[in-house]
Amino acid sequence: MTLPLQDKKIVLGVTGGIAAYKACGVLRRFQKAGCEVRVVMTASAQKFVAPLTFETLSGHEVVTDMFPPRRTVKTRHVRWAEWADAILICPATANIIGKAAAGIADDFLSTLILASRRPLIFAPAMDYEMIENPIYRENRKKLESFGHHFIDSETGHLASGAVGPGRLADESVIYSAVESILHPSGALSGVRVLITAGPTREPIDPVRYLSNNSSGKMGFALAEAAASRGASVTLVTGPVSLETMPPVDRIDVSTAAEMNDAVLARFPDHDVLIMAAAVADFTPLHPSGSKLKKQGEAVGLKLRRTGDILKNVAAVNDGKIVVGFALETDDVLENGKRKLKEKRLTFICVNDATEPGAGFETDTNHVTLLFPDGETDDLGMLSKSATAEKILDRIEIIRGGA
Ligand SMILES: Cc1cc2nc3c(=O)[nH]c(=O)nc-3n(C[C@H](O)[C@H](O)[C@H](O)COP(=O)(O)O)c2cc1C
Repeated sequence: MTLPLQDKKIVLGVTGGIAAYKACGVLRRFQKAGCEVRVVMTASAQKFVAPLTFETLSGHEVVTDMFPPRRTVKTRHVRWAEWADAILICPATANIIGKAAAGIADDFLSTLILASRRPLIFAPAMDYEMIENPIYRENRKKLESFGHHFIDSETGHLASGAVGPGRLADESVIYSAVESILHPSGALSGVRVLITAGPTREPIDPVRYLSNNSSGKMGFALAEAAASRGASVTLVTGPVSLETMPPVDRIDVSTAAEMNDAVLARFPDHDVLIMAAAVADFTPLHPSGSKLKKQGEAVGLKLRRTGDILKNVAAVNDGKIVVGFALETDDVLENGKRKLKEKRLTFICVNDATEPGAGFETDTNHVTLLFPDGETDDLGMLSKSATAEKILDRIEIIRGGA
């Protein structure tokens, strides 16, 4: 299989932020995708990570100096600017962004930025006070107005101990942003992906219902990530308070039965199904047509099982990729393995509802992927966008090997 960024040449510019060590993982991610990566470090970056680390990882000399003692090529910044398919500044300090916006070229990296006509991509990371500073925001706006790209930082715990925006985007988010800049059509171009999201509502009477705490964030993150890779995305969502971007075709449903019908009707026209919705397992047996009146101290509510959407899909699946989610509170892996087998899934994403930061309503998730051959892949605690990118990476690999 040819990877989308196979043989691309990336200059990785590392600047002096605490996230400089994360650039090592980013470099590896691009190498795994078949890219050749060469590294430039600012003087401040070298206070955080030694050039030797990047030299060893990249297999090339790291440029640290505009005027090295034994110069062989006089205009190295021009040669590098021509060599690169893209220049990725990661992490990008407020300082390099300010210098780039002002056209300052006082070291090798800032000179290279000014000399380059190739896509210039900044992955900023800094404390929230800096990222919210109007001077920084103006500088970013100015660079964007010249067509340069920014990969938004995440909100989370920062090195200063504060919680806020400014944490470097996850490496898989950075990779996929660069991929979509260099290949606007995307690695999932032409692939039709059906995704479910959110909770369902099972009516008790016209004003009351049974539901759960699903926010829909995981399914929406998957829809956005798949669309940015060029997929044509249909999102079937239960009631949530989230917006969808235009390329996503959104279908709003309420009950488990409506979600079942919407999925089964569209499954034949799609290549991939990802069931990230938290569908109710039970629904009131006899929902009342009028509002139930207060009566007695206790009332009983008879429930019946809802239809199992993934089992219904399995019955008609002729070899398409079907990914399930299982949110568990006990025996997480064992229950996940059982569902994987019972529902004949391509793989299942399991998470533990009792773990802080994982599951419903949070911006982060801790998912483990389980595969039919027994492989398990613990993705660790990530933002939901980063989790979505990792899940789509797997889908791309499975499709590529098909
Ligand atoms: C411990 C420490 C952490 C820092 N982290 C950041 C950071 O995350 N983002 C940032 O913009 N600046 C950060 N700075 C400030 C930069 O290092 C400083 O602005 C420097 O001049 C940047 O130089 P450069 O852009 O040439 O690499 C940090 C400084 C220190 C001492």
